[in-house]
Amino acid sequence: MLCLEHQGIRNRRAMVLELNDDVDLYRSGDLCLDEFTGKTTSIARALERSLTLLPAFNEACDTARSFVTSATQPLYSRQFDGCRHYSISLLGIHPEFRIPVHDHPSTVSLFHVIEGRVQATHYDIVDQSGQNAFIQLASCSGKVLENGDAVVTMPDIENLHSLQALDRNAVCLTLQLYTRQEREPRSWYFPLASGQRSNTALWYRIQDKEICNGI
Ligand SMILES: [Fe+2]
Repeated sequence: MLCLEHQGIRNRRAMVLELNDDVDLYRSGDLCLDEFTGKTTSIARALERSLTLLPAFNEACDTARSFVTSATQPLYSRQFDGCRHYSISLLGIHPEFRIPVHDHPSTVSLFHVIEGRVQATHYDIVDQSGQNAFIQLASCSGKVLENGDAVVTMPDIENLHSLQALDRNAVCLTLQLYTRQEREPRSWYFPLASGQRSNTALWYRIQDKEICNGI
């Protein structure tokens, strides 16, 4: 008989496979957006229920709830399950830290809000200059995610998005599913300081680096 933790791992791996199948069906046009959103939200909520059986997960939720951002640790992140194909992490996002604009090529990312509210914004690249060192972005869609909501980011290059907790700390769960063994570096886009360029509000510089697991 399997112990509770092994049963939990097996259940979570089944959820990862289900997400993988749903992403394939959505991308091939066999699942419409509403069905895809409903199915992925159900997976995210089941994942949360599975993890709440772990005392360490509930303690980590308390830590995420009270986390205060700092220069050395802008975000709280703790991984709870993972292998070379996927990782599952809990995040604590303080409202004073905006997760910068970024993409994650070759990674499908399921982002689920357990507590709080999160502004999720997507961007289009509208101009580039300086051998692509500077990028002008325009927000193309935005959504406020609340308790129980989930969104999936597809593994395409330049699928750009940012996240901002509203009002108070947001406690979130992410499942990142790697679609290729060789993961491509993600890109981060930071707003230019004033004076670096005219009309700086919409211009960003690109920096390739990992900031944190789980986002
Ligand atoms: Fe992301």
